[in-house]
Amino acid sequence: MNDITEAPRSFAPNRLAERRPGLLARGLFLTMDAVYGRAPSIEKFAALELVARVPYQAWESVAYVALTHVHGRVAFTRRIFEFVVEARHAQDNEQWHLVILEELLARSGARRSWLTARAIPQLLAVFYYHVSWLLYVIAPSLSYGLNADFEDHAERSYLAYVSAHPELEDAPWETAIAAEYGAPRTLAALLRRIAADEREHRDHSLARLTEPRFADEHGLAA
Ligand SMILES: [Fe+2]
Ligand SMILES: [Fe+2]
Repeated sequence: MNDITEAPRSFAPNRLAERRPGLLARGLFLTMDAVYGRAPSIEKFAALELVARVPYQAWESVAYVALTHVHGRVAFTRRIFEFVVEARHAQDNEQWHLVILEELLARSGARRSWLTARAIPQLLAVFYYHVSWLLYVIAPSLSYGLNADFEDHAERSYLAYVSAHPELEDAPWETAIAAEYGAPRTLAALLRRIAADEREHRDHSLARLTEPRFADEHGLAA
């Protein structure tokens, strides 16, 4: 989770982030646009957050397998363990986003269909989990690249939504279940903070694009 309560409103310049989204990422965005409309919305964000968690789950699962391949290499085991902790931390962060958005939707009294609120996000999540897992096994950089595209799209969508809804600047954020997330005072500040988390996730994945998956002190991978 990001420690700041007010994320910058403009996109941070990032050379690596100027990459064009890959085919899989574009397919996912088009599917979401077809189901939830092109314009960002809270319901669309809730679906997106359900999907956002699964790459980290997939990576955690692969790391467990790697742990069984490092017999006797204590320092290496420790590194993989840290990777697992990091993946869990990101999952918790995405889970907070989901909980917060579900609460916003419940408070708004929005009518939601079973298909768009439950079935489609779950199907997308199952698909995305297996793709993330498979890509990671084939080449970790493919999985990190897909996640970076996804997180970048999420950040931009949140920021676009806030700029399209200036009334959020004066709308107080009230929560009964997510106080641990922090204390943004307004809905605009809350969504900018979530956007900042997504940017952090994206930058993490971009940074890993150039690193081997689990390399020990001799550069050997599990
Ligand atoms: Fe998120
Ligand atoms: Fe994220």
